[in-house]
Amino acid sequence: MKLSPSPACRSALALGLALAHPALALTVGFSQVGAESGWRTANTSSIKAEAAKRQVTLRFSDAQQKQENQIKALRSFVAQGVDVIAFSPVVETGWEPVLREIKQAGIPVVLTDRAVAVSDPGLFATFIGSDFVEEGRRAGRWLAQKTGGKAVIAELVGTPGSAPAIDRKKGFEEILGAHPEMKIVLSQSGDFTRAKGKEVMEAFLKSPQGRQVTALFAHNDDMALGAIQAIEEAGLKPGQDIIIVSIDGVRDAFVAMAAGKLNCSVECNPLIGPQLFDLAAAVAAGQPVPHRVPVAEGVYDQSQAAAALPNRQY
Ligand code: AHR
Repeated sequence: MKLSPSPACRSALALGLALAHPALALTVGFSQVGAESGWRTANTSSIKAEAAKRQVTLRFSDAQQKQENQIKALRSFVAQGVDVIAFSPVVETGWEPVLREIKQAGIPVVLTDRAVAVSDPGLFATFIGSDFVEEGRRAGRWLAQKTGGKAVIAELVGTPGSAPAIDRKKGFEEILGAHPEMKIVLSQSGDFTRAKGKEVMEAFLKSPQGRQVTALFAHNDDMALGAIQAIEEAGLKPGQDIIIVSIDGVRDAFVAMAAGKLNCSVECNPLIGPQLFDLAAAVAAGQPVPHRVPVAEGVYDQSQAAAALPNRQY
């Protein structure tokens, strides 16, 4: 996609200066979802550290998992006249009006981590993030292999309406479609937090269906880690009585895998600060960028956890 340079960058371009150069001031407004998980904390650190390294002026705002806070932050970035607006949208829908306002102001938008559902893809310049559907498929494939295609599954869903919750469920269910003896019997949101994951798992385990559960699919590691506590408190062995697969690949998940309590974590890489600011510099300069930039990631199980742990960066 080809874009026009942002107003603050035009004079620099006229001087023929490269905008990726740290000496050229770039101001980026970034609206973060919140601080709900270990993944999110690592994502925020990566973005702040990279901005500092490049001497980018970062206007950072934490939305505390509320869309209305993000919309307010985006409008305030427009009022401040930043060069680029970046954000990780808490939910998929409801962004068109504010994205139109930003477009009218001539400020390019870089989406990070989570996508938006909009009728006009021209409302944002680019999206950098993971393939959440594929992450769900990876979790499903791993569980099918581990259980021989037979499992009574409880599911801890992410934040309702968020791209990772929608897409991970979709990818996981796609795999279950080919395994008639793998069934989700309980499914509820734990809002991507450890506390909610524990609370919901406690309730699952008290229900008649919950007592039949042989596997847990958690849409992120934090909810799985909370559920592990609930499973232990119920007198069961996580990782043995209940096979657990989750998503993110945070350090605490590797610790749990090495201890035999979590069976598999599908990686979702939060360390996207460097790619984000490469894209921000490019769109501010009006350079063409791909509309979607993927992030590379893997799948880890208990057999790899101890060896991988010392090198985990988040
Ligand atoms: O959008 C990425 C997801 O958001 C991560 O999997 C989860 O941990 C976070 O809260």
